[in-house]
Formats: sequence, C-alpha cells, structure tokens
Amino acid sequence: MKFFIDTANLKEIQEAHELGILDGVTTNPSLMAKEGIKGKANIIAHYKAICDIVKHGDVSAEVISTDFASIVKEGEELAKIAPNIVVKVPMIKDGVKAIKYFADHKIPTNCTLVFSAGQAILAAKAGAKYVSPFIGRLDDVSTNGLSLIEDIVNIYEVHGFQTEVLAASIRHPMHIIECAKIGADVVTCPLTPILQLLKHPLTDVGLSKFLEDAKKME
Ligand code: E4P
Repeated sequence: MKFFIDTANLKEIQEAHELGILDGVTTNPSLMAKEGIKGKANIIAHYKAICDIVKHGDVSAEVISTDFASIVKEGEELAKIAPNIVVKVPMIKDGVKAIKYFADHKIPTNCTLVFSAGQAILAAKAGAKYVSPFIGRLDDVSTNGLSLIEDIVNIYEVHGFQTEVLAASIRHPMHIIECAKIGADVVTCPLTPILQLLKHPLTDVGLSKFLEDAKKME
C-alpha cells in the first residue's frame, strides 16, 4: 500500500519524505489556500517546489475549472509543471469527459470527490489513474466510509480495472490500518495520523527499560 501525504505544507512534506515512507502527495484548493498561496505564478511555483521534494512520487494538483474545455486547458498546463504531476479532476460530468481526454493523451488523473461506487465505476471506465473516495467526510454524515473503499476494491478486482483506489479524507490511524486490511492501493492523509502509527505505550516503556539496563553494561 502506498502512502501519500495530504497537504500543501512544504515542511510537512519534507518531514514525511525524510521518514523514507512517502510515495506521493495530494493537494486540493483548500489545502493550497491554507498555505496562503495566491495567483497563478505562485500556485505553479508551489507545485514545482512539492515536485522537487517528492521527485519520484505522484503529486496531485487539482483543477478549479468545471467545464470540459477549461478543465483540459488547465490540466494540460498543470501537467507541464513536472513529470510527476497527476491532474486531479472532480467527479462531475465534464470531469469524466476530461479524464477520458487526459487518458487518451497519456496525462495521469486522480478523480476526486468520490462518494459512491457508481462514481468510482465511471472514473475507472474513463481511465483515471486514481480514484479518491473520501472516507472521513462520509463518516461525518453517518455513512460508513470504509465500506465504500471495500466495495470499490471488490468491483475493480472483479472487473480488472487498473485504476488505483486512493483512500482519502483519512482522519486517524485506524482508517489507515483498515484500508490496509481491505486492500486499498493508496492512503492519503495528513502527517499526524502517519506519525500516530509509530506510537505504542509498550514501545516507550520497553525502550526506557532497555536503555536503563544498557547503563549496567557500561
Ligand atoms: C483528497 O485528496 C482530499 O484532498 C482530502 O483527502 C480531503 O480530506 P478532508 O475531508 O480531510 O478535507
């Protein structure tokens, strides 16, 4: 299972990268705005900076257009920033058409804002490289987000779709562990749940005892 970090914060991307477990990055307009990025030139420079840190992993850059022609124009511009850019396209009618266009032109896409198995089937049929079902936002409205991941993994397996299931909107370490059990291809999450995976009180207690006993050998 691949680990992507879901942030536009360069410090956090660098920290996850240095941990040696980072396979890619996902961003969205809200995450970019949170970093105070404004204007086309700065947006492009920021994506370039992310791609420079994560040279060998996919970096999702989201279009903000909603009609076919503009999505294609914007996506083609984003794709030129670096070879590892993946164009993130919303699950809307013109988005599906654009995903098909990009697939035909060898531009990888990540179909975002997916909340149902039907939407995931359309994304795969159109040729998306990744589909992003949002677990946390479904949980927020009393719907089981992990069940959706399981459904999509099964459907893609049965039909041999190549689209990778990128579990998004992850809120805590159990989401990551459950996604691993279900067979999600990728999880994207903020730095905190990734670091929370490290933690176990017995590890801390065990290590301090080992270090204490090690002093007896000096
Ligand atoms: C996915 O790619 C999205 O950027 C992200 O996972 C959304 O997460 P949120 O629901 O925590 O905003």
